Amino acid sequence: MCFGFQDLVFSLAILVIMVLTTPCSCTQNNIKSAIFLSPKIELGPGSVSNKFYYDLDFPRGHIAIKSFDAEVVDEYGNSIPLYETYLHHWVIGRYYIQKNVNDNNSSQYNVRNSGLCQGDVLGQYFGLGSETRGTFTYIQDPFGIEIGNPKEIPKGYEEKWLANIHAIDTRGVEDKKGCTECMCDLYNVTKDENGEPLSPDYKGGLHCCYDLAQCKLKEGFKGRKRSLYLRYTIKWVDWDSFVVPVKIYIFDVTDTLQISHNSSKGINPIHNCLIEYQVEPCSTSNKDENGCVIVNRTSVPFKSGGYVIYGVAHQHSGGIGSTLYGQDGRVICSSIPSYGNGSEVGNEEGYIVGMSTCYPKPGSIKINDGETLTLLSNYSSNNNRGHTGVMGLFYILVAEQLPHQYFTNSFFSSFFLYIKNFIY
Ligand SMILES: *[C@@H]1O[C@H](CO)[C@@H](O)[C@H](O)[C@H]1NC(C)=O
Ligand SMILES: *[C@@H]1O[C@H](CO)[C@@H](O)[C@H](O)[C@H]1NC(C)=O
Ligand SMILES: *[C@@H]1O[C@H](CO)[C@@H](O)[C@H](O)[C@H]1NC(C)=O
Ligand SMILES: *[C@@H]1O[C@H](CO)[C@@H](O)[C@H](O)[C@H]1NC(C)=O
Ligand SMILES: *[C@@H]1O[C@H](CO)[C@@H](O)[C@H](O)[C@H]1NC(C)=O
Ligand SMILES: *[C@@H]1O[C@H](CO)[C@@H](O)[C@H](O)[C@H]1NC(C)=O
Ligand SMILES: *[C@@H]1O[C@H](CO)[C@@H](O)[C@H](O)[C@H]1NC(C)=O
Repeated sequence: MCFGFQDLVFSLAILVIMVLTTPCSCTQNNIKSAIFLSPKIELGPGSVSNKFYYDLDFPRGHIAIKSFDAEVVDEYGNSIPLYETYLHHWVIGRYYIQKNVNDNNSSQYNVRNSGLCQGDVLGQYFGLGSETRGTFTYIQDPFGIEIGNPKEIPKGYEEKWLANIHAIDTRGVEDKKGCTECMCDLYNVTKDENGEPLSPDYKGGLHCCYDLAQCKLKEGFKGRKRSLYLRYTIKWVDWDSFVVPVKIYIFDVTDTLQISHNSSKGINPIHNCLIEYQVEPCSTSNKDENGCVIVNRTSVPFKSGGYVIYGVAHQHSGGIGSTLYGQDGRVICSSIPSYGNGSEVGNEEGYIVGMSTCYPKPGSIKINDGETLTLLSNYSSNNNRGHTGVMGLFYILVAEQLPHQYFTNSFFSSFFLYIKNFIY
């Protein structure tokens, strides 16, 4: 290198200015991106695939995820429209598995997100449904979801990723809407996947459109089976001290929270998220009163607060918006579905093809420790059969510290390391 001393000093000066004024821009140029395909998903007309895929292709190492986008494609890479294959949901989970142990006897366990539901329920890191093509997932700089930190992974274990992909092939079915809403009579299902009888008022939902279930076809319809894939694009940066970590929380409007008062442990919320619910058809009595909008809500305490960096809701067809409120009634994030009005991929008429997202200026939306948040999920019930198997989820990313707070801890040590690396 033909760097003179003066050039070096000059560059160092620029570097110092750069680093001091915009510590965050350092990550921007180093964004990596990769496109992966899930294992093959085989679907014939009317059939359902709802499988778990373990050891998914995923970027490795100590990194920060910046975005996760996905869509369904065929074996030639063509995007498949929602009216042919309805993407009910895809979710991506994290788990640890014992290293170097015979595959069918190694212990593994899920590593859930930061909350809020019981057990492993809604513990995913990423996930969307039909709205996947039109929903922003990028996490603004300098924030990111930290994964692969060797200090967090238990000794003898490695971190892996799984996907659950639920897709419904609605080519040639009698009632596309009904099949996507998993109406039990269309699937001719009265028992769930495990053979347990379903209650007579369970009209539709995940228990009726399980893996390999078959939705009713039009008389005599014939169509070939085809091979599809979830094609997913991940963007990330290598972990460094300029990235500020965010935590993932998912709220579920069906969460019926109970507070147990335990003398040894204090107040302890017991969540009970049901994931899906039904929207009753509009009755004539409430039609003019509330314009056929069914509002559902839940209130849950948020244990350790922080700054909201990103927010998005998940709703199904019929959804008209969802809002997360703070205890004082302020809006934390409001997310509204957009419906397609054409036939091209990404704009399929009548389907939710995108959800609006929130990107608050970091620091502007704060959730306090222990604050009770309220989630509202609104559906229009303006048809004569309501909706079955709908969801009302809200996904937020929360930074416990803002960049200037976070960097005071780590800035100087890494800054000098950075300079050192630069010189040598
Ligand atoms: C699992 O164990 C059985 C019997 O112990 C063995 O036959 C089989 O090959 C093993 N499968 C894998 C994937 O290791
Ligand atoms: C599987 O692991 C358990 C406990 O870790 C052990 O007792 C058992 O012998 C193992 N089985 C095989 C087939 O290796
Ligand atoms: C529905 O299921 C019942 C029993 O499981 C079966 O006897 C019947 O033939 C099925 N109907 C259709 C239309 O597939
Ligand atoms: C209270 O906490 C103790 C200790 O964690 C636990 O054993 C007990 O089951 C809890 N009781 C209730 C009612 O949650
Ligand atoms: C949603 O709200 C409707 C109308 O208030 C109510 O009847 C229904 O039970 C609620 N559903 C859930 C899952 O809370
Ligand atoms: C949901 O409905 C409630 C009650 O009508 C309303 O106050 C709220 O603004 C609605 N939210 C959205 C996002 O539509
Ligand atoms: C679809 O909606 C967009 C945006 O609202 C509008 O500009 C366009 O004209 C609509 N197209 C059709 C075919 O209705």
